[in-house]
Amino acid sequence: MSKKLYLETHGCQMNVHDSEKAAFALSDLGYEVTTDPTEADLIMLNTCMVREKAARKVYHRIDELKHSFRRVSEKRKGLPIFGVMGCVAQAETDRIFERSQDVRLVLGTQAIVKLPTLVEQIEQGFPRAIDIRLTKDAEFFELDAGVRQTEHVAYITITEGCNKFCSFCIVPFTRGRERSRPADKIVAEAQALAAQGFKEIQLLGQNVNSYGLSGRYHGSFAGEQESDNGVTFARLLERVATESGIPRIKYTTSYPRDFDAEVVRVMDTYDNLCEWIHLPVQSGSNRILRAMRRGYTRESYLEKIAHIKNARKDMSITGDIIVGFPGETDDDFNETLSLAAEVGYDGLYIFKYSPRPHTPAATYTDSVPEEVKTERFLKLQELQDRIQKQRYARYLGRTVEVLVEGMSARSAADCYGHTRCSKIVNFKADKQLVGQLVNVRVTEVKPHSLYGEIVL
Ligand code: SAH
Ligand code: F3S
Repeated sequence: MSKKLYLETHGCQMNVHDSEKAAFALSDLGYEVTTDPTEADLIMLNTCMVREKAARKVYHRIDELKHSFRRVSEKRKGLPIFGVMGCVAQAETDRIFERSQDVRLVLGTQAIVKLPTLVEQIEQGFPRAIDIRLTKDAEFFELDAGVRQTEHVAYITITEGCNKFCSFCIVPFTRGRERSRPADKIVAEAQALAAQGFKEIQLLGQNVNSYGLSGRYHGSFAGEQESDNGVTFARLLERVATESGIPRIKYTTSYPRDFDAEVVRVMDTYDNLCEWIHLPVQSGSNRILRAMRRGYTRESYLEKIAHIKNARKDMSITGDIIVGFPGETDDDFNETLSLAAEVGYDGLYIFKYSPRPHTPAATYTDSVPEEVKTERFLKLQELQDRIQKQRYARYLGRTVEVLVEGMSARSAADCYGHTRCSKIVNFKADKQLVGQLVNVRVTEVKPHSLYGEIVL
C-alpha cells in the first residue's frame, strides 16, 4: 500500500514550487500526495516567515492537525511523521524540536535533495532528522517536468537566494546566497513543459534581474550588463522566448536597481513575453529607501517606470509597498502616496512593517505605532482602489487572451483564468476549455477582476 503525504504550503510561488519538488522527491519512496491530513503518514508544512508571527503559526497549525487526528484516531495506530520545511525551518533550526515534541523532521530551504534520505532515517526508527546547511554552491533540485502540482501554469526556478540584504528582509538569511541556474537547464525544462502542453510558464527568483550577475558589474540602466556565465536576465528571457515554444512567459520578482532597459526591449520584441512587470518599490521616500538599503532612489525608480510606460506593449505594472517602516514620518508616507499615484499600479500588495529576526531593521526602534501603520495601510489601499478602478476600466470592450484555469466555485458554467497582464477574468465557457488559451471580450469591470464573454 502506498504511503500518504500531506503537504501544506504557505507563502510565495517559490514555496509552491519547492513543495512540488518535495512531493516529487518523495514519490521515489512510495509517497502519494493526499489532500486529507487525517490519512497522512507524513505531514510536511512548507512555511513562510517574510511577515507575520510565522513561527508561532507553525506550532499552532501542528496542534490543529494533531487534534483532527485525535478525532479520527480509532482508524489509526499513531501520529504521522510531522516535518517542517521552508523559511521557518531554516531560521528556527533545531529549536523547532524543543518547541514541539511532535516535529521529527526539519528541512532547510536548500535541502530538498536530502528529503528522501531524512524521511528514510525516520522510517528506520531515528527519532529526528535535520538538514539546514546553507552553502553558496548548493545544488539546484532538478524537477522532472511531468510532476507538477500546478495544472496550467508551470513554475521554473532561475535563481535561488538573495544577496541584497534589504534591511527589513529575512530572505537572504533563510534562502542563502544568490545562485543562478544554468541557462541550458532552464531552456530544456521550458521545452519539456511545452511538449507536455503547458501554455504558460513563470520564471522565478527573488531578484530575477540579477540572474547570472552575482558579484559582477551591474552596468548602468541603459548599458549592457556583464554576467558570470555569459547570460544576463535579458539574454535568458530572449533564449526562453525563442527556444521554448511556450506561448506565455511571465517572470517574478524584479528588483528596481537591477531592472534595465534591455529587459524592456526584449519584452517588446517577442510576443510570447507577457506584458506584466512586478517591480516592488517598498517606499516613495528617499530617506526611507536609504534606511531600507534598497540601493535606488524615488527618481531612479520613476525613470524606469517612465521607460516601461514608453514601451511598445501596454505593460501592466504591479508592486509591493511597506508602510510603517521604523522612522517613517507623515511626510515620508505622503511621498509614498504620491509615488503610487504617479505610477498608477495595476495591482499593489501593501504590508505593514513587522520586524524580522536577524535583520538590521529589527534593531531600529519600531517607532510607528500599530494604529498609525493601520491608518497608513488603509489610506494607501483606498488610493490604490481608486487607481485600480481606472486602470481596470481601460479593459472594458477590449478583447484579452485568457488561459482558462478552472471552473469558479459559484456556478458550473463560469470559468476563470488570467490575462497575459495577470488579471483574473471570469466568463462562461465549457469545462473542456480548461487549460486552453481563449479570447475574451471584457464586458464588465470589477475592482479586482474582469468579466467577459468568449469571442471566436
Ligand atoms: N524579492 C522578493 C521579495 C520577498 S518578500 C520576491 O520575490 O517577492 C515579499 C514582500 O514582502 C516584499 O516585497 C516586501 O514588500 C514584503 N516584506 C518583506 N519583509 C517585510 C517585513 N519585515 N515587514 C513587512 N513586509 C515585508
Ligand atoms: Fe528581500 Fe530585498 Fe532580496 S526584499 S528578497 S532582500 S531584494
